[in-house]
Amino acid sequence: MASIALENIRKSYGGMPVIHGIDVAIEDGEFVVLVGPSGCGKSTLLRMIAGLEAITDGALSIGGHVVNDVAPKDRDIAMVFQNYALYPHMTVAENMSFSLRLRGVAKVEISRQVEKAAKILGLEPLLDRRPRQLSGGQRQRVAMGRAIVRDAAVFLFDEPLSNLDAKLRVAMRAEIKELHQRLKITTVYVTHDQTEAMTMADRIVVMRDGVVEQVGAPLDIYDRPATIFVAGFIGTPAMNLLTGRIQADNPRTFRTTDGSALPVSGKFEHASANRDIVYGVRPDSLVIDEQDGMPATVAVVEPTGSETLVIVRMANDEIGVVFRERVSMRPGDVIRLGVKAGSEHLFDAVSGKRLSEAG
Ligand SMILES: Nc1ncnc2c1ncn2[C@@H]1O[C@H](COP(=O)(O)OP(=O)(O)OP(=O)(O)O)[C@@H](O)[C@H]1O
Ligand SMILES: [Mg+2]
Repeated sequence: MASIALENIRKSYGGMPVIHGIDVAIEDGEFVVLVGPSGCGKSTLLRMIAGLEAITDGALSIGGHVVNDVAPKDRDIAMVFQNYALYPHMTVAENMSFSLRLRGVAKVEISRQVEKAAKILGLEPLLDRRPRQLSGGQRQRVAMGRAIVRDAAVFLFDEPLSNLDAKLRVAMRAEIKELHQRLKITTVYVTHDQTEAMTMADRIVVMRDGVVEQVGAPLDIYDRPATIFVAGFIGTPAMNLLTGRIQADNPRTFRTTDGSALPVSGKFEHASANRDIVYGVRPDSLVIDEQDGMPATVAVVEPTGSETLVIVRMANDEIGVVFRERVSMRPGDVIRLGVKAGSEHLFDAVSGKRLSEAG
């Protein structure tokens, strides 16, 4: 087991910087998810931790030792990739034990390790099969088994579930989480799927264009996104983001550029009226308010069974609203929407940063 420390980590490809100085301290036994849009540098960062990519600048420590110049095989890590390429001509057991055999580990010890991993992953009845005789999820588990038998101090995963269908992804997500709870091996997991990040992580690192936007526990990030980018990226359906200003003569009212009025709660009443602000409100923080709500016209109704997503137009803004109860709305209907007290998020439109809150 081991902690991992990234200090001012940078990466350039041929003089072109792609990682711009990243600081993250990962505790021993923690499950950290790196999440962000395609091209933001998640895989590059993970590959630097693995030693598969040279670090341009900064210090990377594993277990308290700087390992910038330590070869991958000496870093005590196991990695599972998106295309987990199993050897087709080897059985499940042979695939899992490959690295141990390569290292010349004794036969008895190899079968002990393989049996242990197979038990953890429910692969015992499949040990003599070849990869083509397995389902996608079973192959995925063999790839994880290969990592487990190495008995490494750190697990690194790069989008390991992206080849699986939606249902299997959810099942494997839970399996990986349970595996971590049992083994408590420090894990860094890369995904662009914010739901995967929310559900699996002890802590999430939200990345964008080679920098860290925010680090925190999933619900802390959800409840208090530090930037407009994080607000729009974490949470599904996405947070509504409306540009406008606090009304000069009434700090409890926000006016969108189109003139719609939205309530501002006590926590933001000291926000300045003299700057452009982005008002964020999650789709499930909007409610029907026949008396004081703002009028909005229903554009699209999307029932999922357990809830209904309704897209409405308020002036020129398009807004998503989630109703947990069944609704009988149709396109063209005019409804009146209120904001649940204190559920708004305010950001400086220029810096993109969250405004400070009272209390
Ligand atoms: N070998 C390379 N040479 C030059 N540029 C590279 C190289 N590898 C990656 N990059 C660039 O570095 C940036 C980060 O790439 P990276 O693969 O880390 O992104 P990512 O966050 O993993 O994206 P995805 O979600 O699509 O996998 C991208 O702009 C990419 O084009
Ligand atoms: Mg990647």
